[in-house]
Order: sequence, then structure tokens, then C-alpha cells
Amino acid sequence: MALVFQAVTKTPTGMDAIGIPVTSEGALPKEVLLSRKTLESLGFTGKVGQTYVVPAEKGAVSVLIGIGELAKLDTASLRKAAAAFARAAANFASVSTTLANIGRLDRKIAAQVVVEGMSLATHRYTDLKTVDKKAPKLATVSLVGSGAATTSGAKRGQVIANATNMARDFANMPPAYLTATIFANKAVEIAGESGLKVEVFNKDQLLAMGCGGIVGVNRGSVEPPRMVRLTYKPTGAKGKPHLVLVGKGVMYDSGGISLKPSDASHAMMKGDMSGAAAVLATMSTLKALGCTNQVTGYLMCTDNLPSGSAMAMGEVLTMRNGKTVEIHNTDAEGRLVLADGLSLATEQKPDAIVDIATLTGACQRALGNGMAGVMGNNQKWIEQLTAAAERTSDKLWQLPLEREYRPALDSYVADMKNVGGEAGAITAALFLEEFVGDTTWAHIDIAGPMWTDSDNGWLQKGMTGYGTRLLIDAALNFRRPSRAK
Ligand code: BES
Ligand code: MN
Ligand code: ZN
Repeated sequence: MALVFQAVTKTPTGMDAIGIPVTSEGALPKEVLLSRKTLESLGFTGKVGQTYVVPAEKGAVSVLIGIGELAKLDTASLRKAAAAFARAAANFASVSTTLANIGRLDRKIAAQVVVEGMSLATHRYTDLKTVDKKAPKLATVSLVGSGAATTSGAKRGQVIANATNMARDFANMPPAYLTATIFANKAVEIAGESGLKVEVFNKDQLLAMGCGGIVGVNRGSVEPPRMVRLTYKPTGAKGKPHLVLVGKGVMYDSGGISLKPSDASHAMMKGDMSGAAAVLATMSTLKALGCTNQVTGYLMCTDNLPSGSAMAMGEVLTMRNGKTVEIHNTDAEGRLVLADGLSLATEQKPDAIVDIATLTGACQRALGNGMAGVMGNNQKWIEQLTAAAERTSDKLWQLPLEREYRPALDSYVADMKNVGGEAGAITAALFLEEFVGDTTWAHIDIAGPMWTDSDNGWLQKGMTGYGTRLLIDAALNFRRPSRAK
């Protein structure tokens, strides 16, 4: 169950627990009846991420929430402190806290990130559990704050966290529970609820459109592909900056004929549609958050399976933009489905495109699970994305789009091969660049952060919903990037 937040101006009576922010230096708040020395002997120094529950015989228990040095408190540390509070308070149904009303932070943003931290840290995917032993009791949170700013910030935080949790749920769903068809149907439902135009393209339509990439990848599956186009137009849309999001929606990636080994880690490949989930989740928030830019989202959905009809090695596909691709590894399928999406996006002549994809193990190995890689053909656009990453803590690190590596993709029969050379994250991006022409474009490789193997901060074990908060922020703050490359 999603947490319910309410903004209040003073601590309500009858709470089960009260969260008290505690700095790592200076005087303790008067509600704390223990000395710093005692707290330190108990292992609580007030560092961000620490909490300490002070029991009470009757009335509310106190949960001390470490916030570090007040002067250094920023949105990232406040979100983290809020997540720690939610974990510590998991067994109390109703809690209140002044956490969103401290330091020099803007009160609206503070309320937003506190709600994000608490909501993300407690969300769990429970659809398939018949008994849920770990269900948190925590249900309602009263944010003691400063009126309208706290109310509107908390509302924003809820929209953003709910969308992220929705992306997590989609990615956590087993392959048979979320086929391309089911996902497209969900997208239609969500679009209806969130003021978006939605168009769904089936296999015949994709074939007629010349989308040889997505259709080629789909050949081994009994489940048909789907492409979904979602359109958000703000009031007075004409002339407003236009951004296109393209998400990799590989519902399950077995590798195809280039079959992945039977390693347990490949159960994660149900999350190979995390990019498309982040795009759908992002699109679902734009109206509620009052986005003033035009945003289009493409979900490129199919699974990648081996069978007698599957795409073979040496096969040559003709893509939407007419370019031909020789298949040298059927497990490099993400770039094939994205290629068609990027071509269609480019045809709309938008101000910028960003694609998001669980694309390469190489990117995961280079950067680990804590951040995604970003590359592109316009530094100003990349800077907008890295600024959004700073604000949301959906971390990004730029890798070079080194064109010297492009010959590694040369093919002797077709325009290019789908794999080649070393630097796998970079050559994948160079492949994608072939489908955007001169359009301003960036590519986000989320193979690393799509998944986490433990509960930590505001992350929960399993699929992370990475990219949802990043793309929401990037869409809301989007400005036309200058042409300077
Ligand atoms: N979906 C995978 C990439 C991936 C790996 C995502 C690990 C998340 C975690 C992608 O389709 C893939 O298989 N990539 C290959 C490309 C290779 C064949 C050039 C890879 O990274 O091994
Ligand atoms: Mn693959
Ligand atoms: Zn894949």
C-alpha cells in the first residue's frame, strides 16, 4: 500500500511515532531526553542515514533521524535521511515529523524529497506473494511544515514516487505477467488516466512502417511486438519545446539464438524493459506536474527469444530509416528495437531526443550499479540531463562518443553490423547515432542501475525504477539545447 502523506502545521496528537531530525553537531533538540554522549555510545552520531528509536512506555516513541551538518543538508541527503526514517518507523502506523521543515532548503522541494525518500524506501512488489510477512505497518505520515509550500511539495513528491514505484512494479513482473501486448494495454489505460494521447502499433503495422529492427527481434517469439506512442501536449502547445523519449522495452531478453548462459542472474532480464517503464511512468506524471513542454514517448516492446523462426546470425535487417544491419549477435537486440524508435522520433523533428535502455553489460561493468552512462551528439543537451541527475540522485556519468571506434561496426555485406570492437557501451551508442541524423540526441544506458541486490537508502531490493525521476525532472526543465555540439 502506498503511504499517505498530509501536510500539517503542528505535530498532531495520537501519533505512534515522531521523527525528530538530529544534526551531527551542536545542541540536541529539546525533545531528545538523552545526551549526545549517551547517543554516541549507542552508535548514533547524527550522520545522514542513521536513526535511533527511543522507546516510550506510553505515547509516541521518538525516532531520531540523523541529518548530518545542518549547513550541508541538501536534497540528496534529506531524501536519504527520510528513507532511513521510513525504514526505522516501518512498524508504526501513524508517524509525524518536522523533517521537511529544517535547514535552508526551499520548503516545497524539501517536502517533495522527504515524500520521495519515505515512499520509495517502503515500496515493495507484493502482487505475487500469497503471504506477506514483511508488510510494513506504516501507513500515514504527517509532515509538519509551513503551509502551502509543504502541501504542494508533498503532492509533487507523491506523484513522482508513485510513478517510480509503478516503473519498479512493471520491471519486477515476470515475463508471462507482462508481455508486450499486456504492457501496451496497461499503457493505454494509464494514458487515459493521465491526459495523454496514445497510439498502439501491432506487428502488421510495424512491418508496413518498415520497422525491421523491432520486427526482426520479435521473430523468435510467439508473443507479438507492440510499439506505443504517447503524446503529451500542454495547453498552448504550439511553439513549445518538444522532447522525445524512447524506451527499450525488451520484455524478456534470453539473448535469442546467441542464447545467454543459464546463470541465475539472467532472471533479471525480465527487467530489460526498464527503459520503456521509465518512459511510461514519466509520461504519466506530466499533466499532474504541469509540464509546459511537449513530450512524446515511444515504448519499443518485444521479447527476444530463440526458436526455429528466430533471427539468425548473418541475417540482414532493413531498418525504418532504410539502413541495413548485419546481425553478428542476436543478444545485441536492444539497439535494434531502439533504432526504429529513434528514426520515428527523428521524423517528428523534435528539439531533442533521449533514449533510455538496459543496453550493455559493458556499461554496467564500467560504472557499476550506482549510476547510468550517458552519451550523445550535443554537449548542451547532455548537460541538461546531468543537471537533472544531480537534482534527482538518479546518477549519470558521461562516456565519450568516440567516433574513431565507428569502423568496428563496418560490415562487408550491409551498412553496418550490430556489434563490433571493444568499449561495448560506446559502440552501442555509435550504432544508435546512425538513426538520429542531425537531431539533438542523448542515450542513457541503465544496465547497471536497473537493479539492486539489497535494500539501501531509498532503493529496495529488485528493480529500481531508475530513470523515472531523472526523466521527469529533465522533461519539466527542458529548454531547447543550442546547436553547439
Ligand atoms: N539486456 C542486455 C544488457 C544488460 C546486461 C542489461 C546486464 C542489464 C544487465 C543486452 O541486450 C545485451 O544482451 N547486451 C549484450 C551486448 C553484446 C552482445 C554486444 C551484452 O552486454 O553482453
Ligand atoms: Mn541482449
Ligand atoms: Zn537486452
